[in-house]
Amino acid sequence: MAQGPALAPLPAGFGRYLDWFSGFVDGYAARLAGDPNIAVKREHSRRVFDEARAILAAEPAPATGTFATLLAALFHDVGRFPQYERYRTFRDADSTDHARLSHLTLQREKVLAGLDPAVRRLALGAVVLHNRRSLPPGLAPALARAAGVVRDADKLDIMRVMLAQLAPDAPANAVVTLHLADEPGAYTPALLEGLLAGRLGDYGRMVYVNDFKLLLLSWVHDLSTAAARRAFAERGFVERLFSLLPRTPDMARAAALCAAALKAGEGG
Ligand SMILES: [Fe+2]
Repeated sequence: MAQGPALAPLPAGFGRYLDWFSGFVDGYAARLAGDPNIAVKREHSRRVFDEARAILAAEPAPATGTFATLLAALFHDVGRFPQYERYRTFRDADSTDHARLSHLTLQREKVLAGLDPAVRRLALGAVVLHNRRSLPPGLAPALARAAGVVRDADKLDIMRVMLAQLAPDAPANAVVTLHLADEPGAYTPALLEGLLAGRLGDYGRMVYVNDFKLLLLSWVHDLSTAAARRAFAERGFVERLFSLLPRTPDMARAAALCAAALKAGEGG
């Protein structure tokens, strides 16, 4: 997080997981020397971890939940590295479900061996659920909460990554923009209609870079913590994304609706 918000303290014994993560990514960085996408995902994982610490500082969880949530935040995207090495894309539809690959990688590398089974289950569950369009109903409250914090933290940092990538002077990176067509005036009407109806965007329907912006905006409907809603508002994500979209009456309507959705959730 840029600066400011307090972070939940690092639990005792957590340092070894940070060390494992560094060593794991170092292996990919060495094999794919000079590829910026490894650094993008390393930085993203570390920042999601800090975003989760900030959310937990604002909205504390019991010790088991805190440990599991921080593990899941740090490790949610470990599957991105083997995904990228093998397929050279972050598009799950063209490769593999990267959350399942994260789960598989953690199991294969025995990263969570020796942990309390309840913590391990919670962490792995939150990893697998982090990229679902929405959380399935009926989850155990501890899992819903851990997954909710990881998903919020992930969204906050994806916003940072995408806004930096979408800045007019940023060098193009087709991997980060998921190989979508960059046509300034073009967007898929179904995605705008979905946003206007308060629905979450569907990665599978994206064609243009503008569709990705509309999908990111739909996340105002899927933040589970008040701390994340506050951060969305304070960082101006909604305004900044709409400033990068075509100026039409429907877009203006969607902007007002997204701002209202963030506000409506305040304190909730
Ligand atoms: Fe992910």
